[in-house]
Amino acid sequence: MIKIGVFDSGVGGLSVANAIKKALPKVEVILKEDKENLPYGNKTPEHLLRLVKPILKELVEEGCCVIVVACNTVTTTIINELRGNISVPLIGMEPMVKPASALSKTGVIAVFATPTTLGSKRYAELKRLYAKNVEIIEPDCSTWSWMVEDNRVDKEAIRKNVQTVLEERADIIVLGCTHYHWIEDLIQSYAAGKAIVLQPEQPVIQQIKKILNTSSIIKQRNL
Ligand code: DGL
Repeated sequence: MIKIGVFDSGVGGLSVANAIKKALPKVEVILKEDKENLPYGNKTPEHLLRLVKPILKELVEEGCCVIVVACNTVTTTIINELRGNISVPLIGMEPMVKPASALSKTGVIAVFATPTTLGSKRYAELKRLYAKNVEIIEPDCSTWSWMVEDNRVDKEAIRKNVQTVLEERADIIVLGCTHYHWIEDLIQSYAAGKAIVLQPEQPVIQQIKKILNTSSIIKQRNL
């Protein structure tokens, strides 16, 4: 059976793994969560590299032919270093600044992400490349991954952030942390049709299919 690795600090990975299983029921999804070291969202790139390298190595040793780094924090800080160390394709997940900027009619978008993602060079590059003429609002979500992991969702804090970005005319809200996929419906309900909520599970699934197709595994095994 084809094995796909999925990795995150915690339950963000589970959300992505579930979406992959739903789209590709015949592949085996091996999920690794580094709950011991969660949250990742306030760690330095050097620290993250030390934590993540051995886990990806395990996924390769367990036979994964592609690995999804289901963590924006890891992708935006150390994906290049990881790619240099791993023998299988790595698919990253990063804030969807490009599609959000293209879709926005008001020219204002909001990005909900961890402090490390928001402070990363890759995120700065995404803004420079794709959002030159777009205003980006980045409300404080620094406690959210922990809140979701712990299943203690502070609805009022979420409602406030959504209200703030709507008041600033954001019409797209980007979920730049996979933990927030679990509160996507809540965010959507507070946005009440005034903003579209974007997250990258479907584009990642398309990317997996492309990689599997290229290696013609999908055709051979009738997935
Ligand atoms: N789910 C991860 C992300 O997408 C990391 C959250 C955390 O551990 O702080 O950034």
